Amino acid sequence: MLIEEWKRRKALVEEALIRELDASDIIDDTLGESMRYSLMAGGKRLRPMLLMAAADAAGGNGDDYLTSACSMEMIHTYSLIHDDLPAMDNDDYRRGKLTNHKVYGAGMATLAGDALLTLAFEVLFRQKGVSSDKLVAAAKEISIAAGVAGMVGGQAIDIESEGKKISRDTLYKMHMGKTGALFRASVRVGAILAGASDEVLSALTDYSEKFGFAFQITDDILDVTGDESKIGKPTGSDERNKKSTYVTLSSLDEARRLARETVEGAKGALAQLGDSALYLKELADFLINRDR
Ligand code: IPE
Ligand code: IPE
Ligand code: MG
Ligand code: MG
Ligand code: MG
Repeated sequence: MLIEEWKRRKALVEEALIRELDASDIIDDTLGESMRYSLMAGGKRLRPMLLMAAADAAGGNGDDYLTSACSMEMIHTYSLIHDDLPAMDNDDYRRGKLTNHKVYGAGMATLAGDALLTLAFEVLFRQKGVSSDKLVAAAKEISIAAGVAGMVGGQAIDIESEGKKISRDTLYKMHMGKTGALFRASVRVGAILAGASDEVLSALTDYSEKFGFAFQITDDILDVTGDESKIGKPTGSDERNKKSTYVTLSSLDEARRLARETVEGAKGALAQLGDSALYLKELADFLINRDR
């Protein structure tokens, strides 16, 4: 089920992303080209998958929320463009292609990221079929998750932790910020738009936090053990930048164990949801053996 459904929805997301870009006031200048370059470079589209699967789990149909899913993917792509910049992780490849700044220069890559971040909100407000109350709640989720209390804040801890021995608490906070926050928002936005009850929203939030944490642990593992042609980005980036990760704090085995345990916890959070959460459960299982 997972692979077919992922493929089907991924194709819908790709189409919707093109549609949303075309509906925006983006001209074919260098900035527009660089935005399209990174956004349409592929990627797993995992945050859109989670948003839609959470809507399913909340009793809706994820396919109805493609526009909001595009919004999450735009913010994620912006975070990748900035993460790769010379002043940050200084990486040359992303999604199997040269990084944005390698093609367009650091200045234009910075602006492409900025423009995708703001476009994400323009696009979110094009979401049809939901009340404005729900849309405002979704915008609040996304803005908090993307900012200082979420992704950007986590990236700041990441920079400040380079070359240091940090505590497990700090590492947890970093992971939950730089990576966990956008996963959490994706799940919560899907659930909120589909009208989840407080109880369902709370179970899904628990799931999303564990999912995001496990995801970054497996990203850190793949930075050591991954196959560059599959992950589409360089391995060894963390070592080169003296990053703090669960692999450096403990060991590969310990990181794998923690990821497995966290994925079990994420699935456990779905217990009360039954079959409607099957796809979320499968997405969590994907983390354990992922090679990309
Ligand atoms: C990579 O995210 C960046 C992190 C948050 C660790 P993904 O592995 O989801 O990247 P894409 O979207 O598939 O390229
Ligand atoms: C950064 O984590 C996550 C964000 C982009 C916010 P990493 O720096 O580990 O991501 P990758 O490995 O470059 O994708
Ligand atoms: Mg980074
Ligand atoms: Mg990086
Ligand atoms: Mg990484």
